[in-house]
Amino acid sequence: MLPLVMRATWCTDIHLNFPLPRALRQFYEAIEAEAPDIVLLSGDIAESDSVVHFVDEIATQTGAKVYFVLGNHDYYRSSIRHVREQVTRIPKLATWLPGVDPVRLDDRVVLLGVDGWGDARCGDLDSPIQLSDWHLITDFFDVRMDPFGRIELLQKLGADEARVLREKLARAPDAEELFVLTHVPPFPQACWYAGAQSSPEWLPWFTCVSTGEVLAEYAANHPATRITVLCGHTHGQGVFEAAPNLVVRTGGWPPNVDDYGNPIVQSTFEF
Ligand SMILES: [Fe+2]
Ligand SMILES: [Fe+2]
Repeated sequence: MLPLVMRATWCTDIHLNFPLPRALRQFYEAIEAEAPDIVLLSGDIAESDSVVHFVDEIATQTGAKVYFVLGNHDYYRSSIRHVREQVTRIPKLATWLPGVDPVRLDDRVVLLGVDGWGDARCGDLDSPIQLSDWHLITDFFDVRMDPFGRIELLQKLGADEARVLREKLARAPDAEELFVLTHVPPFPQACWYAGAQSSPEWLPWFTCVSTGEVLAEYAANHPATRITVLCGHTHGQGVFEAAPNLVVRTGGWPPNVDDYGNPIVQSTFEF
């Protein structure tokens, strides 16, 4: 039976391959202190060789059911396809949202998710910023020295994410509240870093314009549904109201911290 009030604790960019054992224990205790029924993870959980382990460990340690999407770091040292195949086989306590139909959390609230990708459709496409993704994810190996090939691949990955999101939304039951979990901010205005929008050189790799288009269209066609998007990737906290019924919350580093290895709880929602 579902609890009368459900508590959903959201974390993002926890990069659990970095923390020392003590920081990891403190992180699990911080989640437990929120007394969540479910935990939402919006990507960059770890890397390809440990993401399954950590997702499973969070569920086991906290006793909460985990819903998650993958971020770019979760594919490091492997391929997108291989990691996605792995996470679809995780035991029932943890669910990769792109692999399942929208989840009805109660009679008012629905949850769905897509991974998202920085899809090189805004900002400075001649950006000098190079991402580790292109050297650590095998899908990029053929284009790592080819800026045009990279942009083409990123735009295709973004379009694939938009297609999956469109399919999920089409299957979502009517809801007063819709939570969408994704890794990459779907609007440039949601690419927060240090309290401001990321600069144009970062935006091509920090924004999934394709999923933003799908969300904006859905919000316009469903004015009675309140949509909350939970994302991360930029490691800067902020809130962007994309439409009266569409709010994007971007999670980030804890205050005064600018390094991996300090996973925190972003917030807990009650409904
Ligand atoms: Fe991250
Ligand atoms: Fe990321």
